This record gives sequence, C-alpha cells and structure tokens, in this order.
Amino acid sequence: MIKPLVAGNWKMHGNTETARHLAAQLVAQWSDRPVAERSVEMVLFPPSVHLSLVKGAVAGSGIAVGAQNLSQHGSGAYTGEISGDMLVDQGCDYVLVGHSERRDLFGESSATVAEKFKAAQSSGLIPILCVGETLRQRQQEQTVAVVTAQIKAVIDCVGMHNVCRAVVAYEPVWAIGTGETASPEQAQQVHRAIRNQLGEVGLSTRLLYGGSVKASNAAELFGQPDINGGLVGGASLEAIEFFNIVKRAE
Ligand code: PGA
Repeated sequence: MIKPLVAGNWKMHGNTETARHLAAQLVAQWSDRPVAERSVEMVLFPPSVHLSLVKGAVAGSGIAVGAQNLSQHGSGAYTGEISGDMLVDQGCDYVLVGHSERRDLFGESSATVAEKFKAAQSSGLIPILCVGETLRQRQQEQTVAVVTAQIKAVIDCVGMHNVCRAVVAYEPVWAIGTGETASPEQAQQVHRAIRNQLGEVGLSTRLLYGGSVKASNAAELFGQPDINGGLVGGASLEAIEFFNIVKRAE
C-alpha cells in the first residue's frame, strides 16, 4: 500500500505574513489526529526565502517542507543559486525538480533536470520529478512518448533504482494554472504508462497528478489506481481548500 502524498506548491506568492498565516492554518486543521495515524503525507513548497519560517511554523505537526528548485552544483561561485545541502540545512525533506515552469520559462533541459535530480538525492533530499506534455504534444498524440522521454533522461543519469525511490508528478502543461484538468481517465492512462516504465522496482513509487487540482475534482483523480496524491498550485494558497484536497487523498 502506497501512502499518498499531497504537495502544495506556493510558487512565487505571498510574504512573511501570509506564509506564516497559511502554515498556521494548516497546522490547526491537521492537528486533530496523531501523526502516526494519518494516512496521507502533506508537504508544503513555499518560496525559498520563507522555508525556514514555514519549517518553524509546522514543527511537530508532521507536515513536511520542500523547495521549489535547487542548483545542480554542490557549492561554489554560482550567484543566486541554492544548493541541496543548503535546503537540507533549512529543514527541507523534498525538492521539486523539472517543474514545467522551470523547463519552459528558465530553459531547463532534461539533462539539467537530471543533474538537479542527482544533486538532490546526493544531499539527502527526495526529489519530486515533474513531467508533462504541452497541449500541442497531446493533440499530436505524443503524450506518453514525451513523458517517458523526460523520465528516461533521469533514469539514464541516476539509474532506475534511484528514480524509483523518488516521487514522480505527472503535470500536463495545458492543465497547470488554467482551470482545465485532465480527466481521471486521461491522467490514469499516463500514470499507468509511467508505472509500466518504472517496472518492478517502481511498484511502490509514488506518482502524483498535478494541474488544476481542486477539492471538487481531487477525489475522482486520487481514486485512480495509479494516482497516489497530487501536486497542487493555485488551490494550495487557500488553507481550507488545500486541506479539503488533502482529505480527499485519505
Ligand atoms: P495548478 O499548478 O494547481 O495551479 O494548476 C500545479 C503546479 O504547477 O504544480
């Protein structure tokens, strides 16, 4: 049995006050049951400057914290970059790697994403590898080819075993921040293809769906056999909505 995971990607939103408030609201909602009895894992991905603040705010609640990006380099003269060790030092357990906004807006190639994945694991972080097709690629029926190629680039760099001990998030680019969601059947189909690609070792790998997940569509998505939770953007900025999504994964 795979323990589902629901992750909230806050992207570049908020300030000290809103980060503190959102984290506190989630802790208040989440604290009604002992950590050991929870059947879902919740992870928050605030902007890097708020990591330590959010880590402090969720201390003792069982909620984990992760970063939205990391450098592929261990240390050195890389102005503006943040290494995996620095993120661990700030209390991170997870890090997003290869989010489509990083690939599209900041030119991260699959090779760079693979290096970042490797750097994350070397620092002891659990990478959440994001993959997904554009609308054009879906229309051209390239979805599975695109997604499996993005995963293969990482397998080639770190090996199947290491990919399988991470988390993979399928996020169709056309569904991110658009209000449009893949149907449960469309999502399941891609998740099944990913599960097949990972083979025996990937049977217990957590596969998340992302792209306009809301409390109103989460239950159906999370009910699919190969979907083990979600990566939530916009809806994670509202405590009640996000908490309701988390509950749908139980
Ligand atoms: P969204 O974002 O839920 O706002 O579509 C998802 C993501 O980018 O991870």
